[in-house]
Amino acid sequence: MSTARVRVGIVGASGYSGLELLRILAHHDGVEVTYAAGSQEGTEPLGAASPFLPAAIGSLHIESFHPDRAADLCDVVFVGLPSGTSGAIALDLWKPGKTVIDLSGDLRLPKDAYEVWYKKEAVVQQPQDVGAVYGLTEWNREQIQSARLIANPGCYATAALLALLPVVRSGLARPGMPIVIDAKSGVSGAGRKPAQHAMLGELQENFYAYKVGAHQHTPEIQAQLGLSDPASVLLTTQLLPTVRGIFISAYVPVHTPVSTDDVMVLYQNAYGNEPFVHVHPPGRYPELKHVRGSNLCHIGFHVHAEAGLLQVFSVIDNLQKGAAGQAVQNFNLICGFPETTGLLVSPMYP
Ligand SMILES: NC(=O)c1ccc[n+]([C@@H]2O[C@H](COP(=O)([O-])OP(=O)(O)OC[C@H]3O[C@@H](n4cnc5c(N)ncnc54)[C@H](OP(=O)(O)O)[C@@H]3O)[C@@H](O)[C@H]2O)c1
Repeated sequence: MSTARVRVGIVGASGYSGLELLRILAHHDGVEVTYAAGSQEGTEPLGAASPFLPAAIGSLHIESFHPDRAADLCDVVFVGLPSGTSGAIALDLWKPGKTVIDLSGDLRLPKDAYEVWYKKEAVVQQPQDVGAVYGLTEWNREQIQSARLIANPGCYATAALLALLPVVRSGLARPGMPIVIDAKSGVSGAGRKPAQHAMLGELQENFYAYKVGAHQHTPEIQAQLGLSDPASVLLTTQLLPTVRGIFISAYVPVHTPVSTDDVMVLYQNAYGNEPFVHVHPPGRYPELKHVRGSNLCHIGFHVHAEAGLLQVFSVIDNLQKGAAGQAVQNFNLICGFPETTGLLVSPMYP
């Protein structure tokens, strides 16, 4: 394990993911946060602008992003900017030798898929061309450990993949039948920039679907599950009148007969030793408040034997395991810290 503190910068520090990174990293013994940037100069120190942040980083000022200054001040940079902006900045920092963890979708997909789903110009032909490693920690540890550029997974994708990978990789899912993912998120998933759909008057006592058949995490989930048919994953995203949390209910057609015991063994084998993944016993199901504010993913399932369907529930905090928490988990692996450093916070309840 390293002894010197790693100098860490956050680009996008005034956004929801950036602020969550600051909240986590302020308590990380191996880190000194040396740089915090956004699109514009902060008028007051973070301690005044965001008084909920720990005092240790309160004197930092948000700066207008400049690549040379980031390179001078940091060994590792987290980049949490909107897709379409983030990837180019991540590459600008990676090229001169920095270790970079990008939270956007810009380095997760090949160019053709990216441009279809994000409707923006891609910055790479293939993420592998620049050595970008997909940062789903539990399933990609070895590659992450030796990487210098991480494409941190999307929030819906993290919840869906942790739920579905054990089933698909084991061959239990029936080929040729779509996996239906019914996904719901709290409004912080859309970021901090003001928008009409995120106003209290629009969201409170309301619930609705958005980007039906068009959510950009669909090809990410499909590719990471190793499914080539574009119709193999049907993702429906919906907005919950809550701030944090993702709740997924996935329906997987399975080879019959499959027993509850078989499925439990599958999940225990996949996650029995994982510090951040908890599998509920049959008959118990995860809730948002089992994970809120923590880096945990809770999974539950039910076998609909007569329908030949396995239903899997998966719950994460979108800003933690869905963004900043997983990014720090990956940072820990790369820098040689115990994977749980800075992340052993229990969920808030109620
Ligand atoms: N929110 C989530 O739950 C979540 C989960 C997983 C992944 N992500 C991904 O993480 C990234 C950040 O998401 P977010 O929700 O944290 O967004 P956000 O709250 O809207 O914050 C965006 C940040 O980017 C900064 N920014 C925008 N354009 C910039 C530029 N040209 N140069 C420098 N800084 C710039 C903003 O700075 P100013 O405030 O100065 O404009 C702000 O700090 C996105 O790619 C998103 O898809 C988000």
